[in-house]
Amino acid sequence: MEYKNLTTMKDKEKFIKMLNYGLNYEYTDFFTYRKESAMMQKKIVSGEKLADEFIRFSNMELRHADILSNKIVELGFEPIWQMENIFYNDSLRETLLRHIEKENLAYKFYTELQKINTDLTFEIVIKGIQQDEKEHLNRLTNLFKKIGN
Ligand SMILES: [Fe+2]
Ligand SMILES: [Fe+2]
Repeated sequence: MEYKNLTTMKDKEKFIKMLNYGLNYEYTDFFTYRKESAMMQKKIVSGEKLADEFIRFSNMELRHADILSNKIVELGFEPIWQMENIFYNDSLRETLLRHIEKENLAYKFYTELQKINTDLTFEIVIKGIQQDEKEHLNRLTNLFKKIGN
């Protein structure tokens, strides 16, 4: 493992804190996509395909959460899960808009995590996650544009 740059306990703690922040984000997002998937099915005519796509996104977020949580364990800490409230209301448009903001934050979060990370293998993993977040962001944005009020 290449954590030679994380020499002080303070650095390590900051890194763990960030991983935990990400973990909570990912878990919350896992449930958000599930809820939205149900919404798609209910609100959009022939929304099944879209609903399936959102389940696929949901599963991706769960995989991200697993990766972060495994990293925390690997570094000798306990993952802390404090799920935040999921934004959800009856307006698909508003829900999507809020979610776009969240995905944007996720993308920025991984950029910040990359700055403090010193492990080359993990760097590649983070890049992969960021690609996923970008896919989500683009998809949500396109969908938002298509959906009227
Ligand atoms: Fe994610
Ligand atoms: Fe995402």
